[in-house]
Amino acid sequence: MLHSCYGINAEGHLTIGGIDTLTLAEKHGTPLYVLDEDHIRGMCRMYKSAFADSFGGESTPVYAGKALCFKGMYRIMAEENMCADCVSPGELHTANAAGFPMDRVFFHGNNKTDADLRYAVSLGVGHIVVDSHEELDALDVIAKEAGIRQKILLRITPGIDPHTHKKIITGNVDSKFGSAIVTGQAEVIVSAALEKANLILDGLHCHVGSQIFDIGPFADAADIMIDFVAQMRHKHGAALPILNIGGGFGVRYTEDDPEIDYVANIRALGKIIDDKCARYGMEKPTILMEPGRSIAAAAGITLYTVGSVKEIPGFRNYVSVDGGMPDNPRYTLYQSRYTILHAARAGECADYECTVAGRCCESGDLLAEGVKIVRPVRGDILAVLVTGAYNHSMASNYNRLPRPPIVMVSGGKDRVAVRRETYDDLLTLDEDM
Ligand code: LLP
Repeated sequence: MLHSCYGINAEGHLTIGGIDTLTLAEKHGTPLYVLDEDHIRGMCRMYKSAFADSFGGESTPVYAGKALCFKGMYRIMAEENMCADCVSPGELHTANAAGFPMDRVFFHGNNKTDADLRYAVSLGVGHIVVDSHEELDALDVIAKEAGIRQKILLRITPGIDPHTHKKIITGNVDSKFGSAIVTGQAEVIVSAALEKANLILDGLHCHVGSQIFDIGPFADAADIMIDFVAQMRHKHGAALPILNIGGGFGVRYTEDDPEIDYVANIRALGKIIDDKCARYGMEKPTILMEPGRSIAAAAGITLYTVGSVKEIPGFRNYVSVDGGMPDNPRYTLYQSRYTILHAARAGECADYECTVAGRCCESGDLLAEGVKIVRPVRGDILAVLVTGAYNHSMASNYNRLPRPPIVMVSGGKDRVAVRRETYDDLLTLDEDM
């Protein structure tokens, strides 16, 4: 199986966290997101221990909540002693409502409003990752009004192309995020931040991209950023004790994706950083990274019920399911590839080539094209694997479809973590006019 949290039981049914997916579909209905909590915790522990071994000091993983965000996730992150990256006031609100310690939060975003910044300051957010001069000025005033000195990092673009999907490259110089080193703008914002009486410049942040399997882009980012840290310490006397090199480790969605050894990659990165700092004779910064996808993706699957199988001679076969782009927009947006299984016949030869289509009134509402599955009939359950990240968090109510619930499995038990939306939920914001 693609990941250790999936299995096939004696009846030939797909399992997640040891639980039969057909039982879950029967009990909770479809479409249904299922998450293996133990897998999520295992990934957090792997990151915690690899960071302690390879980066040392106060270094810690920072969970990027944009991958999967609901109160239960922040409770798990708090229990696993993780930090959190929040990217909107809504994510901050969710973390706070879950009792997540807000001093362990890093607040991101390329256009935080004054209201967002005030909200973050009022919640006692540990670090705000400042993206622009406008934000620097606004936050300085807001911190003064609140009578605090706010700790910040500055978002820097090291100018690296991670050779990943174009829409998710954010470390390039031509980017809406941060200040570029090569243009001299990064240095200008560092010196401006040092002048702010109500802000404490605690370090730098960069993020090179997402779904990266190769250590190269991270190594390049660390290399460029450490050069810059050394320069800023020397020229401006900036201490810059924290270096956050962002998220982006890849995840296997299909058998064609490479295997990735996260621990070995972190070890290699730790060595590169140690060597580089030693060459400068400089004290190593506290290293932070922000994994999102690699913590949540493999832990999740989505279960759907098949409604029809339509075979068009000379063209293709369409298998339609009861969800689609509203619960998983990633094929529509990025042509992302997924592994899809007939949940009741998970171990059988998958030789039926088809397009798996959603139920929206839109031809582009597809989950996969040219995939091979065991031929299903109406009423059968299909499982799309590796949907834990960027599915629920990107879901919509397009076509006025209620969003599926999230069921968490752990230790052989299942419980609802996010309930299914009802038709009445869809009306809650509508005024009677
Ligand atoms: N930190 C920052 C500043 C980020 O922008 C991101 C992702 C992360 C951390 C987490 O990266 P991860 O470890 O999850 O790769 N919707 C797209 C992914 C967009 C990622 C945006 N930033 C998708 O579905 O593939």
